[in-house]
Amino acid sequence: MRRRTILVLGLVALAAVAGACAPNATQSALEPKGPYAQKGFDLFVPVFWVATAIFFIVEGVLLFFIIRYRHRKARATMPPQVHGNTKLEIGWTILPTLILAGVAVPTVATIWDLAAEPQGEVLQVTVLAHQWWWEFDYPDQGIITANELHIPTGQPVYLTMCAVGLGYEQQIAPSTCQDQPAAVGDSVIHSFWVPELAGTQDVIPSRTTYLTIQADEPGTYEGQCKEFCGLSHAYMKFKVVAHDPAGFDGWIAEQQAPAAPSPPGDPEAGAGVFLGTCTGCHAIAGLEDPNGNPLIANGGPDLTHFASRDCFAGCMLATTDENLRRWLENPPAVKAGSWMPDYGLSDQELDQLVAFLNALE
Ligand code: CUA
Repeated sequence: MRRRTILVLGLVALAAVAGACAPNATQSALEPKGPYAQKGFDLFVPVFWVATAIFFIVEGVLLFFIIRYRHRKARATMPPQVHGNTKLEIGWTILPTLILAGVAVPTVATIWDLAAEPQGEVLQVTVLAHQWWWEFDYPDQGIITANELHIPTGQPVYLTMCAVGLGYEQQIAPSTCQDQPAAVGDSVIHSFWVPELAGTQDVIPSRTTYLTIQADEPGTYEGQCKEFCGLSHAYMKFKVVAHDPAGFDGWIAEQQAPAAPSPPGDPEAGAGVFLGTCTGCHAIAGLEDPNGNPLIANGGPDLTHFASRDCFAGCMLATTDENLRRWLENPPAVKAGSWMPDYGLSDQELDQLVAFLNALE
């Protein structure tokens, strides 16, 4: 009786946990929203049913033998033994071999298919995994953004990916994983995953990996780092925003335009705070350091069109004044292990910096 109570309570707890996951149901590889995710799903379904059938056959036979040949007082003799039965042994060697071969052929074919570089009209994007946020560089368009990967619908997007640490961007510009220096600083392994658009791909220091994603319909697809990479691994999220082709061209044009010039007042004062505090790690196109050189991002996101992004800090926070102020006041208190330190900015400086960042449309 007590055992049954525990079982029922366990099932209720399991249902509650499953229910709590429901709001994230959009992050499901079982609902593919593009051809590359579809290929993985089309492989998963037959393999799943083959595995399910084998499970029920094996467990069914096991249960049958457990019950049929259970210990009984009246039956003292051993049942006939089948050891050395050549026909049986050949049979249970060949059957699993055939089943595994049947699963292996479509699996290997799908692996080759997904690994091939897409041909034709393809958008190239370089993905740099930082601790703990994502950088997206568009080498052909000259755009750098963070945590939001914008793509056109109906077109393959070929991702060239690597993990980087501090100092990476100062060694190569524009950043392409191919020119990766041997020493990449403090980087660790991450994994890129947008369940609705493709399978997962590890993102590794000193090594280049590739992944193709594609979305059929405009929309926002949630992604996240899938490999434990340190304290704030769980907050290393991102979004893929798919536009129709015209909308994507519009986004490209916005991002290529210079950042909005700061209007007088708080934003202008904020530019001073930015130049005095943030340029060791962050860059904004069009701004210069005291020696007249363009700023180069070093470990922190490029903030050129910061205000156009819906989220920041690895998409842990939505871009609101309140979140921004809380973040700038003491980043590690908001996101454990954040490389961005508490600079002890005054209330006035915080207000000015928030106004400045909000002006970066
Ligand atoms: Cu990056 Cu986990």
